[in-house]
Amino acid sequence: MIDRIEQLRSEAEGEIGAAATSEELEQLRVRFLGRKAELPQLLRGVAQLDPAERGKVGAAANAARQALEALIEERTAQLAAAELSAGLVHDAVDVTLPGAPAQPLGSLHVLTSTRRELEDIFLGLGFTVMEGPEIETVHYNFDALNHSPTHPARARTDTFYVQRSGEGPEVVLRTHTSPMQVRAMEAHPPPLYVVIPGRVYRPDSDATHTPQFHQIEGLAVDEDITLADLKGTLLSFARAVFGETRDVRLRPHFFPFTEPSVEVDVSCFHCSGKGFMADGSRCPLCKGEGWLEVLGAGEVDPNVFAFVPTTAANAPGYDPEKVQGFAWGLGVERIAMLKHGVPDLRMYFENDLRLLGQF
Ligand code: DAH
Repeated sequence: MIDRIEQLRSEAEGEIGAAATSEELEQLRVRFLGRKAELPQLLRGVAQLDPAERGKVGAAANAARQALEALIEERTAQLAAAELSAGLVHDAVDVTLPGAPAQPLGSLHVLTSTRRELEDIFLGLGFTVMEGPEIETVHYNFDALNHSPTHPARARTDTFYVQRSGEGPEVVLRTHTSPMQVRAMEAHPPPLYVVIPGRVYRPDSDATHTPQFHQIEGLAVDEDITLADLKGTLLSFARAVFGETRDVRLRPHFFPFTEPSVEVDVSCFHCSGKGFMADGSRCPLCKGEGWLEVLGAGEVDPNVFAFVPTTAANAPGYDPEKVQGFAWGLGVERIAMLKHGVPDLRMYFENDLRLLGQF
């Protein structure tokens, strides 16, 4: 029995010494010292041995087990150290290599930069910037802007209704920034010079209409305001945006909240207002017209002033006998399209870096 113990011991010592990985070592530990291995079983059987044998066999088996345990521990430490240094060499990171290419910072969306450019122009003319709600009551969106009860813009097909009448006030997604005219006058006494940028919503979708777009409303109310003031203001705007040699022309139009109402054209900056190019071909931008339509405007209809209640906030209020005003509404997308030659309005909202990266 002692021989068998010595045999097991030298066999185990040989294999443990030769183990190349800590996994292999663990397998050897199970094989020689695990619960079902021969040596531990032998140790467990010592009690049943003949008393004369018991002492010697027990001592030899115990010695063998302790020796193997110590050997395994020693080899484990050696192999772990070797594996760690091999791992460090293999996984080494060269911290002196340059990093991944720096990500570009990006830029403002062209609609944002256009809006800011326009705001700056009007700030320079003495206007202040205000904002207002995109979810708006029919009162401000239509009624207080002098729209007749049957005005076609009120149709369910032309306006996004959020809440029907009967459940409180009738509520829409504002179809234009004009409702802020009355809100601004309710909040401030005259004289008033404000521009209101913001999102507006209409159920249209094609190359020149998106369900959501941006406008900038302008409103000036003071004493002795005439259409000439409107024209001068918009001429400054047109020259700042499209070039110093631009001209503007007003064409009669109709809006419920202005009287008279006009559509405003800017002389084409692509053909210098001639309508044709140097080679005699028709100007592709203004389609030979020489003029580009840019916005709607007019003199504030006295009926709109009558919709503005006099309160502590706006005292002495807006008396149509005392004050006059002019207003305009322009589309930010349209200005940016004209300026940068963007062919399809939907491109602004597709988030395609090939477009965004150009601005
Ligand atoms: N609100 C009009 C629209 O969305 C634009 C407009 C026209 C605004 C004339 C005005 C104005 O302030 O005076 O089509």
